Amino acid sequence: MKIGILSGGGDCGGINPLIRAAVRRANDYGYQVVGIKRGWAGLMEPDTVSLDYDSVADIVSMGGTILLTSRTNPFKKEGGPEKVMENVKKLGIDWLIAIGGEDTQGVAHRLASRGLRFIGAPKTMDNDLSETDVTFGFDSAVNVAVEAIDRIKTTGESHERVMVVEVMGRDSGWVAAHAGIACGAHVVLTPEVTVDLDSVCRTIEARRKAGKKFSLVVAAEGARLGNLSQETLGQKVDEFGHPRLGGISALLAEEITKRTGSEAREVVLGHMIRGGPPSAFDRVYATRLGVAAVELIKEGKTDLMVALRGGSIVPVPVEMALKSKTVDGELLRIAGGFP
Ligand code: F6P
Repeated sequence: MKIGILSGGGDCGGINPLIRAAVRRANDYGYQVVGIKRGWAGLMEPDTVSLDYDSVADIVSMGGTILLTSRTNPFKKEGGPEKVMENVKKLGIDWLIAIGGEDTQGVAHRLASRGLRFIGAPKTMDNDLSETDVTFGFDSAVNVAVEAIDRIKTTGESHERVMVVEVMGRDSGWVAAHAGIACGAHVVLTPEVTVDLDSVCRTIEARRKAGKKFSLVVAAEGARLGNLSQETLGQKVDEFGHPRLGGISALLAEEITKRTGSEAREVVLGHMIRGGPPSAFDRVYATRLGVAAVELIKEGKTDLMVALRGGSIVPVPVEMALKSKTVDGELLRIAGGFP
Protein backbone atom coordinates (compact mmCIF):
# COMPACT_ATOMS: atom_id res chain seq x y z
CA MET A 1 0.00 0.00 0.00
CA LYS A 2 1.29 3.43 -0.92
CA ILE A 3 -0.34 6.51 0.59
CA GLY A 4 0.10 9.99 -0.85
CA ILE A 5 -0.41 12.99 1.41
CA LEU A 6 -0.88 16.62 0.43
CA SER A 7 -1.86 19.93 1.99
CA GLY A 8 -3.71 22.58 -0.02
CA GLY A 9 -5.05 26.09 0.61
CA GLY A 10 -3.89 28.39 3.39
CA ASP A 11 -1.49 26.98 5.96
CA CYS A 12 -2.55 26.77 9.60
CA GLY A 13 -1.54 25.17 12.87
CA GLY A 14 -1.85 21.39 12.93
CA ILE A 15 -0.86 20.31 9.41
CA ASN A 16 2.57 19.03 10.46
CA PRO A 17 1.29 17.11 13.49
CA LEU A 18 -1.26 15.46 11.20
CA ILE A 19 1.38 14.52 8.61
CA ARG A 20 3.59 13.11 11.37
CA ALA A 21 0.81 10.99 12.86
CA ALA A 22 -0.39 9.68 9.51
CA VAL A 23 3.14 8.76 8.40
CA ARG A 24 3.92 7.00 11.65
CA ARG A 25 0.66 5.04 11.83
CA ALA A 26 1.08 4.11 8.15
CA ASN A 27 4.65 2.93 8.89
CA ASP A 28 3.30 0.80 11.74
CA TYR A 29 1.22 -1.05 9.14
CA GLY A 30 4.13 -1.32 6.74
CA TYR A 31 2.59 1.17 4.28
CA GLN A 32 4.77 3.48 2.22
CA VAL A 33 4.04 7.22 2.35
CA VAL A 34 4.88 9.83 -0.23
CA GLY A 35 4.49 13.54 0.47
CA ILE A 36 3.17 15.61 -2.42
CA LYS A 37 4.54 19.14 -2.58
CA ARG A 38 2.38 22.27 -2.94
CA GLY A 39 -1.04 20.62 -2.86
CA TRP A 40 -2.55 19.68 -6.20
CA ALA A 41 0.33 21.39 -8.01
CA GLY A 42 2.56 18.46 -6.96
CA LEU A 43 0.28 16.06 -8.77
CA MET A 44 -0.02 18.20 -11.89
CA GLU A 45 3.78 18.30 -12.29
CA PRO A 46 4.94 15.52 -9.97
CA ASP A 47 6.97 16.82 -7.06
CA THR A 48 7.14 14.39 -4.20
CA VAL A 49 9.22 13.39 -1.20
CA SER A 50 9.22 10.04 0.49
CA LEU A 51 8.27 10.18 4.16
CA ASP A 52 9.04 7.77 6.94
CA TYR A 53 9.07 7.54 10.71
CA ASP A 54 12.31 9.50 11.08
CA SER A 55 11.71 12.14 8.43
CA VAL A 56 8.70 13.45 10.36
CA ALA A 57 10.52 13.67 13.70
CA ASP A 58 10.31 16.98 15.54
CA ILE A 59 7.53 18.51 13.45
CA VAL A 60 4.71 18.14 15.98
CA SER A 61 5.23 21.69 17.25
CA MET A 62 5.93 23.26 13.86
CA GLY A 63 3.48 25.63 12.17
CA GLY A 64 2.95 25.71 8.42
CA THR A 65 3.39 22.58 6.35
CA ILE A 66 6.59 20.72 5.53
CA LEU A 67 4.92 19.71 2.26
CA LEU A 68 4.35 23.32 1.23
CA THR A 69 0.97 24.41 -0.07
CA SER A 70 -0.74 26.22 -2.93
CA ARG A 71 -4.18 27.17 -4.13
CA THR A 72 -3.80 25.24 -7.41
CA ASN A 73 -7.07 24.00 -8.82
CA PRO A 74 -6.61 21.21 -11.41
CA PHE A 75 -10.15 21.80 -12.65
CA LYS A 76 -9.09 25.27 -13.78
CA LYS A 77 -6.30 23.91 -15.99
CA GLU A 78 -6.66 22.40 -19.43
CA GLY A 79 -6.54 18.61 -18.93
CA GLY A 80 -5.80 19.16 -15.23
CA PRO A 81 -7.93 16.38 -13.71
CA GLU A 82 -6.64 13.88 -16.30
CA LYS A 83 -3.06 14.86 -15.52
CA VAL A 84 -3.60 14.41 -11.78
CA MET A 85 -5.13 10.98 -12.22
CA GLU A 86 -2.38 9.93 -14.62
CA ASN A 87 0.29 10.98 -12.12
CA VAL A 88 -1.47 9.30 -9.21
CA LYS A 89 -1.21 6.11 -11.27
CA LYS A 90 2.39 6.72 -12.34
CA LEU A 91 3.47 7.39 -8.76
CA GLY A 92 1.74 4.19 -7.65
CA ILE A 93 -0.41 6.03 -5.11
CA ASP A 94 -3.22 3.78 -3.89
CA TRP A 95 -4.80 6.25 -1.51
CA LEU A 96 -4.48 9.94 -0.83
CA ILE A 97 -4.85 11.94 2.36
CA ALA A 98 -6.07 15.39 1.32
CA ILE A 99 -5.46 17.91 4.09
CA GLY A 100 -7.47 21.00 3.33
CA GLY A 101 -10.62 23.01 3.48
CA GLU A 102 -13.53 23.25 1.13
CA ASP A 103 -11.41 23.87 -1.99
CA THR A 104 -8.84 21.08 -1.53
CA GLN A 105 -11.37 18.50 -0.43
CA GLY A 106 -13.80 19.69 -3.10
CA VAL A 107 -11.20 18.82 -5.76
CA ALA A 108 -10.57 15.40 -4.16
CA HIS A 109 -14.31 14.73 -4.06
CA ARG A 110 -14.68 15.59 -7.75
CA LEU A 111 -11.71 13.38 -8.61
CA ALA A 112 -13.32 10.48 -6.73
CA SER A 113 -15.64 9.99 -9.70
CA ARG A 114 -12.49 9.51 -11.82
CA GLY A 115 -11.22 6.83 -9.50
CA LEU A 116 -9.30 8.76 -6.83
CA ARG A 117 -9.43 7.05 -3.46
CA PHE A 118 -8.90 9.47 -0.63
CA ILE A 119 -9.60 10.52 2.93
CA GLY A 120 -9.97 14.22 3.70
CA ALA A 121 -8.82 16.05 6.83
CA PRO A 122 -10.56 19.27 7.97
CA LYS A 123 -7.89 21.94 7.88
CA THR A 124 -8.78 25.59 8.04
CA MET A 125 -8.36 28.36 10.54
CA ASP A 126 -11.69 29.67 9.23
CA ASN A 127 -13.61 26.79 10.86
CA ASP A 128 -16.14 26.86 8.05
CA LEU A 129 -16.52 23.15 7.23
CA SER A 130 -19.68 21.29 8.18
CA GLU A 131 -20.02 17.90 9.86
CA THR A 132 -17.19 18.53 12.29
CA ASP A 133 -17.43 20.33 15.60
CA VAL A 134 -14.36 22.30 14.66
CA THR A 135 -11.63 22.33 12.02
CA PHE A 136 -8.02 22.14 13.09
CA GLY A 137 -6.08 25.39 12.87
CA PHE A 138 -8.99 27.35 14.28
CA ASP A 139 -7.99 27.00 17.91
CA SER A 140 -4.41 28.06 17.16
CA ALA A 141 -5.59 31.10 15.22
CA VAL A 142 -8.03 32.20 17.92
CA ASN A 143 -5.39 31.84 20.63
CA VAL A 144 -2.91 34.02 18.73
CA ALA A 145 -5.62 36.58 17.96
CA VAL A 146 -6.62 36.73 21.62
CA GLU A 147 -3.05 37.23 22.75
CA ALA A 148 -2.56 40.03 20.23
CA ILE A 149 -5.88 41.72 21.03
CA ASP A 150 -5.18 41.62 24.78
CA ARG A 151 -2.06 43.67 24.02
CA ILE A 152 -3.86 46.02 21.64
CA LYS A 153 -6.48 46.59 24.35
CA THR A 154 -4.03 47.96 26.88
CA THR A 155 -2.82 50.51 24.34
CA GLY A 156 -6.39 51.41 23.41
CA GLU A 157 -7.34 51.81 27.07
CA SER A 158 -4.29 53.93 27.87
CA HIS A 159 -4.88 56.26 24.93
CA GLU A 160 -8.68 56.19 25.25
CA ARG A 161 -9.02 55.19 21.63
CA VAL A 162 -11.25 53.01 19.55
CA MET A 163 -9.19 50.04 18.41
CA VAL A 164 -10.43 48.28 15.29
CA VAL A 165 -8.85 44.84 14.89
CA GLU A 166 -9.24 42.97 11.61
CA VAL A 167 -8.89 39.20 11.52
CA MET A 168 -9.07 36.70 8.67
CA GLY A 169 -12.44 35.28 7.73
CA ARG A 170 -13.65 35.77 4.22
CA ASP A 171 -17.06 34.15 4.33
CA SER A 172 -17.42 33.22 7.98
CA GLY A 173 -16.72 35.09 11.16
CA TRP A 174 -15.76 32.27 13.51
CA VAL A 175 -12.38 33.76 14.41
CA ALA A 176 -13.85 37.25 14.86
CA ALA A 177 -16.69 35.93 17.03
CA HIS A 178 -14.52 33.75 19.27
CA ALA A 179 -11.69 36.26 19.62
CA GLY A 180 -14.24 39.03 20.15
CA ILE A 181 -16.02 37.18 22.93
CA ALA A 182 -12.74 36.11 24.54
CA CYS A 183 -11.45 39.69 24.57
CA GLY A 184 -14.68 41.40 25.57
CA ALA A 185 -15.08 43.28 22.28
CA HIS A 186 -17.78 45.93 22.22
CA VAL A 187 -18.56 45.36 18.57
CA VAL A 188 -17.99 42.18 16.55
CA LEU A 189 -18.48 42.31 12.81
CA THR A 190 -18.77 39.17 10.70
CA PRO A 191 -19.71 38.27 7.13
CA GLU A 192 -22.81 36.48 8.41
CA VAL A 193 -24.76 39.59 9.35
CA THR A 194 -24.86 42.93 7.59
CA VAL A 195 -24.42 45.67 10.16
CA ASP A 196 -25.20 49.32 9.66
CA LEU A 197 -22.20 51.58 10.34
CA ASP A 198 -24.52 53.96 12.18
CA SER A 199 -25.27 51.27 14.73
CA VAL A 200 -21.53 50.64 15.26
CA CYS A 201 -21.08 54.35 15.91
CA ARG A 202 -24.09 54.45 18.23
CA THR A 203 -22.51 51.74 20.39
CA ILE A 204 -19.24 53.71 20.58
CA GLU A 205 -21.03 56.98 21.34
CA ALA A 206 -23.15 55.35 24.04
CA ARG A 207 -19.97 54.14 25.72
CA ARG A 208 -18.43 57.61 25.49
CA LYS A 209 -21.53 59.11 27.10
CA ALA A 210 -21.12 56.58 29.91
CA GLY A 211 -17.55 57.84 30.38
CA LYS A 212 -15.84 54.92 28.61
CA LYS A 213 -13.65 56.28 25.90
CA PHE A 214 -12.04 53.00 24.95
CA SER A 215 -13.91 50.71 22.60
CA LEU A 216 -12.80 47.50 20.93
CA VAL A 217 -14.14 46.52 17.53
CA VAL A 218 -13.20 43.11 16.12
CA ALA A 219 -14.01 42.73 12.44
CA ALA A 220 -13.64 39.78 10.09
CA GLU A 221 -11.99 40.81 6.83
CA GLY A 222 -15.21 39.83 5.04
CA ALA A 223 -17.50 41.76 7.43
CA ARG A 224 -20.52 43.22 5.74
CA LEU A 225 -21.33 46.78 6.55
CA GLY A 226 -24.45 48.19 4.99
CA ASN A 227 -22.86 51.41 3.85
CA LEU A 228 -19.21 50.38 3.45
CA SER A 229 -18.17 47.91 0.80
CA GLN A 230 -15.86 44.96 1.43
CA GLU A 231 -12.32 45.94 0.64
CA THR A 232 -10.53 43.81 -1.89
CA LEU A 233 -6.79 43.94 -2.30
CA GLY A 234 -6.59 44.43 -6.05
CA GLN A 235 -8.92 42.74 -8.46
CA LYS A 236 -7.24 39.36 -8.48
CA VAL A 237 -9.09 36.21 -7.50
CA ASP A 238 -7.43 32.87 -6.82
CA GLU A 239 -8.02 29.68 -8.83
CA PHE A 240 -11.05 28.90 -6.70
CA GLY A 241 -12.54 32.32 -7.43
CA HIS A 242 -11.86 33.86 -3.99
CA PRO A 243 -10.95 37.54 -3.92
CA ARG A 244 -8.18 38.76 -1.61
CA LEU A 245 -9.89 40.72 1.10
CA GLY A 246 -8.34 43.16 3.50
CA GLY A 247 -8.52 46.72 4.63
CA ILE A 248 -12.00 46.99 6.08
CA SER A 249 -10.53 48.03 9.45
CA ALA A 250 -8.89 51.12 7.92
CA LEU A 251 -12.18 52.23 6.40
CA LEU A 252 -13.94 51.56 9.67
CA ALA A 253 -11.44 53.46 11.78
CA GLU A 254 -11.65 56.44 9.45
CA GLU A 255 -15.45 56.47 9.45
CA ILE A 256 -15.67 56.00 13.21
CA THR A 257 -13.38 58.98 13.81
CA LYS A 258 -15.31 61.09 11.31
CA ARG A 259 -18.72 60.25 12.74
CA THR A 260 -18.05 60.02 16.47
CA GLY A 261 -15.04 62.28 16.95
CA SER A 262 -13.31 59.41 18.79
CA GLU A 263 -9.73 58.74 17.87
CA ALA A 264 -9.60 55.34 16.20
CA ARG A 265 -6.75 53.09 15.07
CA GLU A 266 -6.82 49.94 12.97
CA VAL A 267 -4.68 46.84 13.30
CA VAL A 268 -4.75 44.06 10.72
CA LEU A 269 -3.71 40.76 12.29
CA GLY A 270 -3.77 38.99 8.91
CA HIS A 271 -1.38 36.10 8.38
CA MET A 272 0.13 36.45 11.82
CA ILE A 273 -2.72 34.41 13.29
CA ARG A 274 -2.43 31.65 10.70
CA GLY A 275 1.23 30.85 11.14
CA GLY A 276 3.40 29.85 14.06
CA PRO A 277 3.34 26.86 16.40
CA PRO A 278 -0.03 25.13 16.71
CA SER A 279 -1.91 25.21 20.01
CA ALA A 280 -1.79 22.11 22.21
CA PHE A 281 -5.40 21.39 21.27
CA ASP A 282 -4.63 21.47 17.54
CA ARG A 283 -1.52 19.31 17.96
CA VAL A 284 -3.54 16.60 19.71
CA TYR A 285 -6.60 16.95 17.49
CA ALA A 286 -4.58 16.84 14.24
CA THR A 287 -2.62 13.85 15.53
CA ARG A 288 -5.88 11.98 16.18
CA LEU A 289 -7.11 12.91 12.69
CA GLY A 290 -3.92 11.64 11.05
CA VAL A 291 -4.19 8.31 12.84
CA ALA A 292 -7.91 8.00 12.01
CA ALA A 293 -7.27 8.75 8.33
CA VAL A 294 -4.85 5.83 8.06
CA GLU A 295 -7.25 3.54 9.92
CA LEU A 296 -9.98 4.38 7.38
CA ILE A 297 -7.59 3.71 4.51
CA LYS A 298 -6.78 0.33 6.08
CA GLU A 299 -10.50 -0.40 6.09
CA GLY A 300 -10.69 0.49 2.39
CA LYS A 301 -12.86 3.56 2.90
CA THR A 302 -12.85 6.52 0.53
CA ASP A 303 -14.48 9.92 -0.10
CA LEU A 304 -14.81 10.45 3.65
CA MET A 305 -13.47 13.14 5.93
CA VAL A 306 -12.21 12.48 9.44
CA ALA A 307 -14.07 14.79 11.79
CA LEU A 308 -14.54 15.65 15.46
CA ARG A 309 -17.98 15.00 16.89
CA GLY A 310 -18.61 15.30 20.61
CA GLY A 311 -15.05 14.35 21.50
CA SER A 312 -14.78 11.40 19.10
CA ILE A 313 -13.07 11.22 15.74
CA VAL A 314 -15.56 9.91 13.21
CA PRO A 315 -15.80 9.54 9.42
CA VAL A 316 -18.28 11.82 7.60
CA PRO A 317 -19.11 12.08 3.88
CA VAL A 318 -16.95 14.75 2.24
CA GLU A 319 -19.89 15.98 0.20
CA MET A 320 -21.73 16.92 3.42
CA ALA A 321 -18.65 18.47 5.02
CA LEU A 322 -18.17 20.84 2.09
CA LYS A 323 -21.34 22.76 2.94
CA SER A 324 -20.08 25.98 4.38
CA LYS A 325 -20.67 26.39 8.12
CA THR A 326 -21.39 29.92 9.24
CA VAL A 327 -21.48 31.32 12.75
CA ASP A 328 -24.80 30.58 14.38
CA GLY A 329 -27.14 33.30 15.54
CA GLU A 330 -26.78 32.49 19.23
CA LEU A 331 -23.00 32.92 19.19
CA LEU A 332 -23.36 36.15 17.24
CA ARG A 333 -25.85 37.42 19.83
CA ILE A 334 -23.36 36.59 22.57
CA ALA A 335 -20.56 38.28 20.60
CA GLY A 336 -22.60 41.44 20.28
CA GLY A 337 -24.34 41.15 23.60
CA PHE A 338 -22.25 43.09 26.12
CA PRO A 339 -21.42 46.48 24.64
O1 F6P B 1 -7.39 29.89 4.39
C1 F6P B 1 -8.48 30.78 4.35
C2 F6P B 1 -8.02 32.15 4.67
O2 F6P B 1 -7.49 32.06 5.92
C3 F6P B 1 -9.09 33.25 4.58
O3 F6P B 1 -9.67 33.59 5.81
C4 F6P B 1 -8.30 34.39 4.00
O4 F6P B 1 -9.14 35.26 3.29
C5 F6P B 1 -7.34 33.70 3.09
O5 F6P B 1 -7.01 32.52 3.75
C6 F6P B 1 -6.08 34.46 2.76
O6 F6P B 1 -5.29 33.63 1.97
P1 F6P B 1 -3.92 34.01 1.29
O7 F6P B 1 -2.86 33.71 2.28
O8 F6P B 1 -3.84 33.11 0.11
O9 F6P B 1 -3.98 35.45 0.94
